[in-house]
Amino acid sequence: MRNKIVELFPRIKDIKDDDLREKTITCWERSLALSPFDIDDLDKIPFTLLLEETDISLLKHTNAVTNTAIKIAESFIENYGEKKPVNMDWVISGAILHDVGKVLEFERDENGKVVKSYHGKRLRHPVSGGIVASEVGLPLEVVHIIVAHSKEGNFTKRITESWIIHHADFVNFEPFRD
Ligand SMILES: [Fe+2]
Repeated sequence: MRNKIVELFPRIKDIKDDDLREKTITCWERSLALSPFDIDDLDKIPFTLLLEETDISLLKHTNAVTNTAIKIAESFIENYGEKKPVNMDWVISGAILHDVGKVLEFERDENGKVVKSYHGKRLRHPVSGGIVASEVGLPLEVVHIIVAHSKEGNFTKRITESWIIHHADFVNFEPFRD
């Protein structure tokens, strides 16, 4: 299972801190264990229920957001250096985990269609993802990135890495709305 998670989210290998890398894997493992889905569903379930029809899976979206976030972070490092330092490990872990709560927010109905779960009606994925991340001992900064990546974050002060994931996520969503 852990090897499969690394295979599906290849940028996990770029997390330099061993403890953070292991906890990032554990967080996906734990969220899937609590959810009605298994690991092979990640490339089958849509990344959002807000688009009528999308063939972009949760897995594809998460990897796209991760690649986008890393490129933004690289640009920050290149352009601003020490003036605005970026923790690349938090960026990678936070991007890979930003939607980890979606496997709790969604479920399949009796026809196999992916719909919002009871859990999802009570807690949106930034909150459920943040809870699981906190449970597995991820640092507060990564929990913050998950909780603040969507509109919930508009009510808090985002750290730099959190702004990066927020925009990386939205640019991989808004253009698909039309
Ligand atoms: Fe997302």
